[in-house]
Amino acid sequence: MRVLVTGGAGYVGSVSVEALVAAGHEVVVLDDLSRGHRAAVVDGARLVEGSYGDAPLLRAVLAATPVDAVLHCAARSLVGESVENPALYYRENVGGGVTLLEGLREAGVRRLVFSSTAAVYGEPTSLPIREDAALAPINPYGETKRSFEGALRWYAGAYGLRSVSLRYFNVAGASERNGEVHDPETHLIPNVLRAVLGLRALTVFGTDYATPDGTCIRDYIHVEDLARAHLLALDATAPDDPRTSGPDGAASALALNLGNGGGFSVREVLAAAELATGAAIPHGIGPRRPGDPPVLVADAARAREVLGWRPERPDLAEIVASAWAWQQDHPAGYPD
Ligand code: UFG
Repeated sequence: MRVLVTGGAGYVGSVSVEALVAAGHEVVVLDDLSRGHRAAVVDGARLVEGSYGDAPLLRAVLAATPVDAVLHCAARSLVGESVENPALYYRENVGGGVTLLEGLREAGVRRLVFSSTAAVYGEPTSLPIREDAALAPINPYGETKRSFEGALRWYAGAYGLRSVSLRYFNVAGASERNGEVHDPETHLIPNVLRAVLGLRALTVFGTDYATPDGTCIRDYIHVEDLARAHLLALDATAPDDPRTSGPDGAASALALNLGNGGGFSVREVLAAAELATGAAIPHGIGPRRPGDPPVLVADAARAREVLGWRPERPDLAEIVASAWAWQQDHPAGYPD
């Protein structure tokens, strides 16, 4: 099928595009390259430079190359930035998102898979987190993702849009071709690896949490496992597919957690990185980072049941080793 991937030059988007192209799909990437990288788009996919929030551009792209489905990966995604500048997050993640939905409605596209986040849950009240847990985001990033999920639910009933929101936990690792580069980089694993290379200092944010070793616990999932889940989720949006149908057979919106279902502490990540790199990890200890819940672990049973998906690379050491291989090949990130 022909798939439009917004944000297909970013981290998760580019690895998902690799998987789509490898599976024989035709891919159009829509990315304004504000945070994505031209070099991350695999040969075989076509890159259109621009934003999903640009209605005339979207109309032109969809008219020139009608698509069967959309993978909506593009978004602003920094928690701290979202607190400082919520307007940006509402404008792009919600306002731009609705522009995308309107463009799809106009073009008659009724299949969408959305990059959502564990941040929609806020501070979980029970663990592991199930999809039916209360949605109570504690920052604008999570709130804007929740808003878009809400739009998808209402668009399903009113306009027949079938969708799957994939709530990512901590995405990590790299494919052979693409890896994680954010600016600024806030995520633990790339920061650990840069510390090994002497490119930056690493601080462990808080060692006084109520966890066995005092550091926060997260559910790390390999980006290639995540990418495979996107392809399976796209299948679930096929016309009449019961997984995106309500009791009356009409279109509905589905939300699924994507995690391994197991947690690792920050100290355990450092230990895995020592094994992967063969080097001690230079680091200091700092205060807690505001807004970090002590534990975020997915109940990932529903994705397994509904999509028939299994993480193939759940091993933390392997996840970190893949990120390390990529980091060594790309010490300065992408050429552009
Ligand atoms: N950490 C450090 N030092 C660093 C970076 C991170 O100690 O330099 C710690 C954090 O405090 C946290 C853990 O490592 O305890 C993981 O932090 P990340 O920034 O890698 O990931 P988060 O768990 O904060 O972020 C994830 C997703 C976000 C989502 C958020 C919800 O990447 O998209 O969970 O809380 F919003």
